[in-house]
This record gives sequence, C-alpha cells and structure tokens, in this order.
Amino acid sequence: MAQKDVGNKIPIYKLKSTDEVMKYYDEWGNENKYNKDMVDWNYTGPKETVETFVKYEKNKDILIFDAGCGTGLVGLELKKHRFKNFHGADLSQTLLDTVPKNLYQKLQKVDLNQNIECEDNYYDAVMCVGTFTFGHVKPTALDEFIRVTKPGGLICFTINEGIYEQYGFDKKIKMLSIKKWQEIEFYKSDYIASKDVNAWLGLYRVK
Ligand SMILES: C[S@@+](CC[C@H](N)C(=O)[O-])C[C@H]1O[C@@H](n2cnc3c(N)ncnc32)[C@H](O)[C@@H]1O
Repeated sequence: MAQKDVGNKIPIYKLKSTDEVMKYYDEWGNENKYNKDMVDWNYTGPKETVETFVKYEKNKDILIFDAGCGTGLVGLELKKHRFKNFHGADLSQTLLDTVPKNLYQKLQKVDLNQNIECEDNYYDAVMCVGTFTFGHVKPTALDEFIRVTKPGGLICFTINEGIYEQYGFDKKIKMLSIKKWQEIEFYKSDYIASKDVNAWLGLYRVK
C-alpha cells in the first residue's frame, strides 16, 4: 500500500526551522485561534495520551513535566483526572501566555532541542503531546526526558506518524529500549483523524 503523504495534510508541517515554526505559533496563538482549530479538528492527542497515562498512574500527587505544553490542553486533561502538580515548558511565549492562570504550578520558556535546565531524576512523569512533529522537537529530547524522570517514572508521548521513521524516532526508541526504559504501550492513536493524521502513542517506564 502506498504510504500516505502526511506532510501535506496541515500547513505547519511544511515548515523546517524552529524560527519558522515559532513565527507560525505567534500568529496561531492569537485570539484563541489554536484552541478553536483544535476543537474544530477534533484533536484528540491530549485526551488519548492522558487516558493512556492514567491507566498506569494512580497517584494524583506526583509531579509531572508537560514538555511542549502549548496552550495547556494536556494540563486541562490532567486536571480533569485530578492531578494537581504539573509544570509546563514550551518555546512559544505567545502560546505560554494563553495558558489558563493557575493551571500549571510553573511555566517555562524552553527549547526542547537543547538540554533542559533541570536536575536529574526531578519529575515523576513526563508528558509530551503533539510536539514530536514536522520541524518541531527531535528524538534527542527523549534522552533529556529520561534524565529528568525518576527511575520507575513514566514517559508518555505522541509522535506524528509522518516523521516517525523520517526523523529516526523508530531507531531511537529501539535503542532506548535496550537499557533505558521499558515499553508499556505503543499504538497508533487517532490524534487528528479528521485530517487523516494519526500518531504513534508511546508509554514507557524509566529503568
Ligand atoms: C501541536 S503543539 C502541541 C501543544 C500541546 N501539547 C497540545 O497538545 O495542544 C506543538 C508545540 O510544540 C512547541 N514547540 C515546537 N518546537 C519546540 C521547541 N524546539 N521547544 C519547545 N517547544 C517547541 C510549540 O510551541 C507548540 O506549543
């Protein structure tokens, strides 16, 4: 079967550099446009990811890092499931400015393609939804997620199906599975099914 051309489905997928991507979000974040589009597109990434996470994490007091939090859609899902302690990080100040007040305990402007300023073994879990996609964050971020997560903690993320092999996520995940983490779930999720874009959804436990 011919592979679907995911890169043509949504305009932002055409952008290559971080600067271009950030300029795009500066526009998209205005007047709640990003959030409205996510409702119109029936973007299910945050809901699906948090629902997968809560199957394995019952302690509502844990500290969670939401990497690439954007406008806070993952935080809203975590709150629905009665989690209380989560920090958000994103490179777009425009999107960070739209996050509902008091949803996250801490919000930081961070480039996830660089080392994260955080001590080792700090978080109980990491969520990263919608951020492993065209022109966004690269597989090396997974090393940093493992570093900042406590042994035994969970890392839960989506990877746009269009970049999974193209950006080397397949090889990276295989390598990390040798020593660094253990796979708990890995499946093709709906994600943005209305646009015919699906994502791999992974949940791993740090060794
Ligand atoms: C599709 S949005 C997903 C946002 C949110 N997690 C959600 O599910 O709605 C992708 C996010 O990745 C962020 N992003 C892109 N490149 C980044 C980078 N290098 N470092 C940190 N965040 C980045 C964007 O600013 C944007 O908020």
